[in-house]
Amino acid sequence: MLDSQILIFMEPKTYFVRTYGCQMNELDTEIMAGQLEKRGLTASPTEEEADILIFNTCSIRDLAERKVMGKLGRMGRGQKKNTVIGVTGCMAMAKKDSLFRKFPHLDFVIGTNNITDLGAVIDEVLYTKKQIFKTDDRFEENLDYLVAKRNDKVKAHVSIIRGCDKYCTYCVVPYTRGEEVSRPPESIVEECRRLVDQGYKELTLVGQNVNSYGKDKPEWNCLFHDLLYQLDKIPGMERIRFMTSHPIDITVQLMEAIRDLPSLCEFVHFPIQAGSNRILKKMHRIYTKEQYFEKVALLRQLVPNVTLGTDIIVGFPTETEEEFQETLEVMRQIRYSVAFLYAYSQRKGTPAMRWKDDVPDEVKQDRLQRILDLQDEIESEDRLALLGKTFEVLVERQNKDGKLLRGSTRCWRKVIFEGSESLIGTLQQVHFHSCAHQTFIGELLPAKKLNVI
Ligand code: 5AD
Ligand code: SF4
Repeated sequence: MLDSQILIFMEPKTYFVRTYGCQMNELDTEIMAGQLEKRGLTASPTEEEADILIFNTCSIRDLAERKVMGKLGRMGRGQKKNTVIGVTGCMAMAKKDSLFRKFPHLDFVIGTNNITDLGAVIDEVLYTKKQIFKTDDRFEENLDYLVAKRNDKVKAHVSIIRGCDKYCTYCVVPYTRGEEVSRPPESIVEECRRLVDQGYKELTLVGQNVNSYGKDKPEWNCLFHDLLYQLDKIPGMERIRFMTSHPIDITVQLMEAIRDLPSLCEFVHFPIQAGSNRILKKMHRIYTKEQYFEKVALLRQLVPNVTLGTDIIVGFPTETEEEFQETLEVMRQIRYSVAFLYAYSQRKGTPAMRWKDDVPDEVKQDRLQRILDLQDEIESEDRLALLGKTFEVLVERQNKDGKLLRGSTRCWRKVIFEGSESLIGTLQQVHFHSCAHQTFIGELLPAKKLNVI
């Protein structure tokens, strides 16, 4: 379509993207915003005022979908306020054009592998006044993925692999994001180099399973740890993180990279999902609890100051109280510094759908509460043990109160402290003296020796 035609039909001047779900979705929102701004649109402060309103959705659990469905339903009842309304993300892949039947006021549906078609799809909507739908099964790398509009000036997400081939029986991701497609290492290095040159201090490499990076492209001869060695060499690179991992792909070489590379942070998201071997097998996690513990022991031996995060699902079909107790025991033994804890939610199209969702809701909620309480207890004990120590902190932003600064240690512990706004984006030493809920309260110190944790 010609630019002159776009001008005739394109009244939209502002956009708003509401993001649900994971870090990959947050990054996809930044990429979509970048493309819209390249076309001259500006961000709207509210959903209601935006000419183009996009819901970048998540399907991982039923609640995530219900929130968007409820919102879209309510919008359809009144007069349509936005010129164009679209759905992107995992729900677009899971529900495809059935969304149009349910929501006649919806203008487009774009899948997770098509976000760079956003401009063309909006043009088509404006030009044809039809509902437009685009959902390819496979991700294709293209340069438009590089035009992300990042609001944060200190930390950035960089996508290194899309999709997932693990097929855990409860999970929709392999169906909503397709198979694993690694991004060429040169393209990643180039983007990271540019971000570092722009002043970014912390880059998080994102993907559904980052540590299977490169396995789909043996000819590149570049696995995840190889990529990390390349990125660590970029002059000025301060901190690298990655999210998320599958335990089976956490290799000794990756552990050694964490030990040896100065920029690679000592935090590993190491999701176990369940503590019973029978449930792990039913989940198709392809490791046993014993194999998981062996890896954790090796990692802790190689990187003694490492901290670990996890994801856990309670109430998986047929999970007994004893099996749930095994999960609690794992939490007590490993002592994760961060845990994302969920009640099982049955997802259409997943292998687990063939089993009855037989753990009653009240039981799931009760188990969830008990595991949340245990994690709270562990975290507060571990927080106390850190008081009185000094850590390297990346100053990220002003705290919500506008008075204090907020930052994180290499091991992802959050701290607030007094200091000048000019310190944002710098690395400082902060003495941790107390805590409020999950956040530490600290005091800025002049440069001296640090505990790296
Ligand atoms: N129900 C509950 N939690 C789920 N997760 C993935 N699928 C489901 C589901 N059907 C959780 C897993 C995963 C995290 C991103 O979401 O713990 O690691
Ligand atoms: Fe889902 Fe399992 Fe892939 Fe993680 S590894 S995205 S839980 S299928």
